[in-house]
Amino acid sequence: MNIELIFENAHEDASLEGFLDRVAGVCFELEGVDDAFMTVVITDDQGIRTLNRDMRDVDRVTDVLSFPTVSYPAGKTAGQCPKRVRREYDPALGKCNLGDCVIDLEQARRQAEEFGHSLMRELGYLTAHSAFHLMGYDHMEDGDKRVMREMEKRAMRVLSLWRGDGSMDYDVLFKRACEALDNSYAPYSHFKVGACILTEDGSMFSGCNFENASLGATICAERCAASCAIAAGKRRFAAIAIAGESAPAWPCGICRQVLREFSPLSMPVIVGQKGGEYRVLTLEELLPRSFGPEDLQGKGE
Ligand code: THU
Repeated sequence: MNIELIFENAHEDASLEGFLDRVAGVCFELEGVDDAFMTVVITDDQGIRTLNRDMRDVDRVTDVLSFPTVSYPAGKTAGQCPKRVRREYDPALGKCNLGDCVIDLEQARRQAEEFGHSLMRELGYLTAHSAFHLMGYDHMEDGDKRVMREMEKRAMRVLSLWRGDGSMDYDVLFKRACEALDNSYAPYSHFKVGACILTEDGSMFSGCNFENASLGATICAERCAASCAIAAGKRRFAAIAIAGESAPAWPCGICRQVLREFSPLSMPVIVGQKGGEYRVLTLEELLPRSFGPEDLQGKGE
């Protein structure tokens, strides 16, 4: 674990823990610090305002506050001061405790709405922002700010965090689909396919096609990836990349329908050939006038 997640004045949401843990892990790794740890407190307007007033003399709501344990020499960050980081080693944790991050869930929700992206992405960004503060980054001066923003951007790219403006990082997802293809079992068609699904909470699930001597028992790469996501409890897909080895692998009709169950029609479907370019279409373009779960709402039972 890279974080401890504490809910204060906010409803517990267990699905956040794995996600924020991954965000922190990516930030620590980008900085090159091993064994780092941070506490993430999720609070509300009232909670953060009180803290902001008591600790910083600023009597107003803010989105995130960071309280580093390490004091870094001017201009230095955690990766350049391994000894200082080591001093914060906590044997009970088996990790170096870099400090606390406090996030106002209400403010994060407002910002997500304002920027037009998911709450998950906003919480991911705020956690990454704070993780870099805890590692000595700052944004008071223009030069420092540029460096900090660049680190945040790198973290968001690695996490493939969805941006509501459509500028998510398709490269990362497509690369994973290409990697997944290496495990394809296609002795009959020799048509190797890999897929990678990004779920709404920022997790990624890879899959590949696997064929069968009884040809109809073959499973496509997309449904293999979808099965992994569903088995992990993820039911909202945000994007999928599909890569063919010898040609771009357009999803078959059955896979389009399976994706339809768990994805918005606006979901990007990234399709290409390994080593080549890819194209991005929406699910709706691939499956117009489709039939989905809402068509059965209020029926049955
Ligand atoms: N295939 C996929 O993995 N995904 C698709 O959507 C199209 C087809 C695989 C299944 C089979 O192993 C091979 O491609 C040839 O049909």
